[in-house]
Amino acid sequence: MQRESWNTRLGFILAASGSAIGLGNLWKFPYESYENGGSAFIFIYLFSIIIVGLPIMMAEIFIGKSTNKNPIGAFKALHPSGWHIIGWLGITSGFVILSYYSVVGGWTLRYFFQTISGAYLSLTDAQISNDFGNFVSNGPSQLLFHSLFFLLIIGIVIFGVRKGIEVAGKIFMPILFILLFIMVVFASQAKGFSRSIDFLFSPDFSKITTTSVMEAMGQSFFSLSLGMGAIITYGSYMKSDEPILKDAATIVALDTLIAILACLMIFPIIFSFELKPGASIGILFSTLPVLFLKMPGGIFIGPIFFLLIIFAALTSAVSLLEVVVSYFIDELKWPRKKATIFMGLAIWALGIPSALCNGGWGWLSGIKIIGNRNFFDSLDYLASNWMLPIGGIFIAIFTGWVVSKDTRNSSFAKDHQLIYRALMFILKFITPLLVFMVLLNTTGIVKLITG
Ligand code: TRP
Repeated sequence: MQRESWNTRLGFILAASGSAIGLGNLWKFPYESYENGGSAFIFIYLFSIIIVGLPIMMAEIFIGKSTNKNPIGAFKALHPSGWHIIGWLGITSGFVILSYYSVVGGWTLRYFFQTISGAYLSLTDAQISNDFGNFVSNGPSQLLFHSLFFLLIIGIVIFGVRKGIEVAGKIFMPILFILLFIMVVFASQAKGFSRSIDFLFSPDFSKITTTSVMEAMGQSFFSLSLGMGAIITYGSYMKSDEPILKDAATIVALDTLIAILACLMIFPIIFSFELKPGASIGILFSTLPVLFLKMPGGIFIGPIFFLLIIFAALTSAVSLLEVVVSYFIDELKWPRKKATIFMGLAIWALGIPSALCNGGWGWLSGIKIIGNRNFFDSLDYLASNWMLPIGGIFIAIFTGWVVSKDTRNSSFAKDHQLIYRALMFILKFITPLLVFMVLLNTTGIVKLITG
């Protein structure tokens, strides 16, 4: 059977941007820039996008496109000596990340329903903020929304690369851009807008610490979906005559633009009410819904905001499932339907403890796995702080040092040679070192050295 491929180049770009643009952009990035001095953090983020994000993006597209295989098959095809273990690590990461990502996806669905039905109109501020706590500790609702979100993911992936993922990207991404634009225009009317502009564009470098530099690098990684083969998989559906660098740069630029626009959407609202964004994802679901209702037009803005987040989360989740599914289709010759349903169910099942460990099931909620983290937080910690950076280092080393030069050069033959060589240099010598430092930071070793 012939392997699937994208219908158009734009289809690939939108699907890959759909993978990259997710909760990482719309929530994590604004929060991290807030905590780290606004524009100074953004400045460092842009720097790490160029020396970590773009080179690994280019490497992943190359690995996929030059082999037309899933992450495991791709490594085997390029170098038959055990490097495919990175593919295994990637597929495992996809499995793990998707299981809890879908739980948060379910929250966005539920908040869309709450805001559009006007359920909050008759409640007090305190009742609305407390609603989040009540919701996450309600086991049956957690399972219901986790399952609903999973049905949506499976419903897209089952239709395949062209009719499922590409169509979803072509519909959801433009709508997402429009909704975000509406939100930013709306936020620009809020009285905190000019303060936000100051904050975002006049740097306060005194707020920068080693940790925030490391945080910026880790974030560029997560935000661009790098380190686990999501982009390898999407790249593997490219037709072989397309150049790589322009597409990589476009995806990176779109992802970065959306992250900055997300700041322009969230800061003015938060600044207008003198509220400090908290460290937890809960604020998206407990503070903002209250603020929306205080604003003129907030009844409409609330549902638009959550719809935007649903689309972003859904296209990211789809890419995570596709990595796992592509392995079963390519290597084990399963039909797509079977691979999507079986793997979807398996990952959904792994998500159940994540759905229930925030209070839904008392016994499980009390169990701490890594440090003081519950099941959900432990999976996130393990995947984002360990599995993705390790995957990223090896992808960089593999592409820079292991793959045959001829294969690599011929894949980039259509690209601008000077830029290709410059990025290759960064990928070989700088990227692995920097990502390694992110890892050291995770372990606490760098913090010890710098005090
Ligand atoms: N990039 C997505 C976000 O910003 C999350 C994501 C989707 C991801 N697929 C990934 C992260 C693969 C790492 C690897 O929310």
